[in-house]
Amino acid sequence: MVHYDDPAWQIAQRIRFDFNNLMADTIGEAHGFTEAALARETEAALAALAAVQARRDTGWLRWMGLPYQPVDDLLAMAADVRARFKNFIVLGIGGSALGTIALKDALLHPYHNQLPDDARGGPRLYVLDNIDPDWLLALLDVLDPAETCFNVITKSGSTAETMSQFLWTRGLLVDRLGEGRYADHVIATTDAARGSLRPLVDQESYRSFMVPDGVGGRFSVLSAVGLLPAAVAGIDIRGLLAGAAYADRISATPYLWQNAALMYALTQHLAYRRGKPLSVMMPYAQGLRTVADWYAQLWAESLGKAQDHQGQLVHVGPTPIKALGATDQHSQVQLYIEGPHDKIFTFVTVEKFASELPIPAWRTGQSAVDYLGGHTINELLAAEAEGTALALAAAGRPNATFKMPTLNAFTLGQFFYLLEMATAISGELYNIDAFDQPGVEGGKDRAYALLGRPGYEAQRAEIETLRQKRKARYEI
Ligand code: PA5
Repeated sequence: MVHYDDPAWQIAQRIRFDFNNLMADTIGEAHGFTEAALARETEAALAALAAVQARRDTGWLRWMGLPYQPVDDLLAMAADVRARFKNFIVLGIGGSALGTIALKDALLHPYHNQLPDDARGGPRLYVLDNIDPDWLLALLDVLDPAETCFNVITKSGSTAETMSQFLWTRGLLVDRLGEGRYADHVIATTDAARGSLRPLVDQESYRSFMVPDGVGGRFSVLSAVGLLPAAVAGIDIRGLLAGAAYADRISATPYLWQNAALMYALTQHLAYRRGKPLSVMMPYAQGLRTVADWYAQLWAESLGKAQDHQGQLVHVGPTPIKALGATDQHSQVQLYIEGPHDKIFTFVTVEKFASELPIPAWRTGQSAVDYLGGHTINELLAAEAEGTALALAAAGRPNATFKMPTLNAFTLGQFFYLLEMATAISGELYNIDAFDQPGVEGGKDRAYALLGRPGYEAQRAEIETLRQKRKARYEI
């Protein structure tokens, strides 16, 4: 039994932020930060932190209260789904899907869906976060909708991708089970009162959960959005929340040098101001690959903004780039080490994996092979991570590492919350609203107009004007 409240255990599970390779001492003053430079920025960083903390649990910062929510209802629903269904499918996109994908990849068996039923101990978990018709239809080759529970997740209830998936899967269920029985296969996660899905929940008597008020999509992984699929798959959601609560406490610390979220936000922001608009996140763990996807959305959608708090046009925002160690050492690292000085790097390492894999010794007489025997794959991965960080540092490339002691629900919950806090603080440092997404709405509105949704006639007229300007010779 894990004691999440045990301080010694918590300290052993604490994620460390090692920023040695951001500092001028290590990489030189041209691209590194001096302690004096950080000292000059400390007041602004603390003011950003205070501005976030002052608004906690109000407005769009209600995600800060998620670590403390009760989860009995979620666990009861999960137990029911586990007992009755072979498959659990999430229908959602963006913030309604990326957290679940990250949870699945980080905390479940890598081949969860292929495991035999008794070894898996719960339903297979699929997340449909796209609308490629071939990809959607292919699902019917591997599962039976009659054995499947569909969790439609959309805060707004109007996202065309999600709602069209829902209409499609509802049609499948009605065909197989009839109008009277299909609703039992649907769980809706949506706003408590607003949006187009909630009235359907009431009309069709779907079981449902709320995306709480003041919790935006990309900050919702620790709400029912991510927690229900996680619990259904058997992930320890109390552990996730305990980790997030632990990160909440650390992130509230008003000392720059003790607060990883604050130091991360500040150093990323300083790098941006110093001509490094590209921010690479490169975990060295296969299971964290899609945690980098989740982070990329959080960072990009929150911080890429046209206007500042005063309404001035600023067009700011760092560009997140996802990479995976060691895989992308053989794909991107050449550019990172010798290309333009326009990037800051964040590695994520896992110090102790669940298993250790020895490399067998075989004396072949080939020196490039023989030295590997007797080491472990774990040692090799750690050496690759450290080697890449050192090579970047030697080339004057600022890089830092989040060090996870192990990968488990507690450390992942910590990491989610730490990065959410860093994002909220960054919003203050950039002087922008980190919680809206007017740019995304623009694309959505035009798609609605193209499909003839009422109320979007003006956008339709604008599209027709643009279409008339198209020239055939510009398409070859
Ligand atoms: O972070 C966000 O707000 C977005 O990525 C949304 O999650 C995404 O657009 C899906 O929206 P909804 O949950 O309303 O369907």
